[in-house]
Amino acid sequence: MEKSKEYGSKLSWAAGKKLVLCVGATCMDYILFTDSFPKLNEIIKAKKGYWQRGGCASNNCTILRILGVKCEFFGMLSTLDLYQVLVDDMESRGIIIKNCPSCKMDPDFSTVFFSKKLKTRNIIAYNNKAFPNVTIEDFRKLDLSKYGWIHLHCIHFESTMAMVKDVVAYNEANPTEKITISLTMDEPLSAMWPLLDYCDYAFFSKRLSPYSGWDSPKEACIHIDEQLRMRWGLNLRRPYVIVLWGSLGGGVMDKSGNYTHFAPYTPMKVVDALGAGDCFVSGFIYAMYIRDRPLPVAMDFATRVAGHKCTHTGFDHIANILLPPVL
Ligand code: FRU
Repeated sequence: MEKSKEYGSKLSWAAGKKLVLCVGATCMDYILFTDSFPKLNEIIKAKKGYWQRGGCASNNCTILRILGVKCEFFGMLSTLDLYQVLVDDMESRGIIIKNCPSCKMDPDFSTVFFSKKLKTRNIIAYNNKAFPNVTIEDFRKLDLSKYGWIHLHCIHFESTMAMVKDVVAYNEANPTEKITISLTMDEPLSAMWPLLDYCDYAFFSKRLSPYSGWDSPKEACIHIDEQLRMRWGLNLRRPYVIVLWGSLGGGVMDKSGNYTHFAPYTPMKVVDALGAGDCFVSGFIYAMYIRDRPLPVAMDFATRVAGHKCTHTGFDHIANILLPPVL
């Protein structure tokens, strides 16, 4: 047997662990690489382009599967023919989707432009307002005893709140079967604060800076700490807060408000950073939950997964991160 294959199968680490559930949305990403950005009314030719299933929760599942984790996606699907490519891709990767409701509507999509000359990445995300999100009624059909970790992308406050409250109630009724809850926060941030009382880990990112005015992960943590301290309840819990800041790394704030900066692992050549934040979150869940590592080790591993993602397009190469170094 080859040495690399001998070193513990990635599947064996996940054996005996309950499923990871990722709640959110899936969409199509249309990705284009150009030399520069088109001027007004100009048509330019892309150097390279590809399509890929995207959306935070959907990407989280892709990366978790690549790391050998049994996981389930829970979000609204579409029965429209064009959309089946997303469904097929999830099924072929072994992502469980059997509990997803579906509708007959056009889902979201994003167009992503990478410009070599400007060293920029621009995303135009189209969120079809009419496309429904999963509801608390859909969520209540799930058998929570199957999950060990639930990660939710907070797209919609009321439904996310109802879901996390259900999980907290499950945890209180089943103290030996506790499900870890993590959240990726989204805008409108001002409405989302109450969710922090119900989770173990909360992820924020630089993407929120236009809405929050944050200039750095430290400033974000100071502001989040303020929000958490302003609550009046005596028995409110607070989560570990992790703020991702792209090429500048990020910061983690513990439950007492202590801040630690973490530096990024920047590859020599950044090819494609789309979904690097989602890679961080999945790498973190993998290290904490599947491998039972302490927080600083999980942060370090998650940072490496995010950096490694940037070396190629897509996500499949992330599997290499689990291979032992060739000596
Ligand atoms: C990456 C991503 C893309 C998606 C976009 C939506 O984090 O999930 O896959 O198109 O963000 O904002």
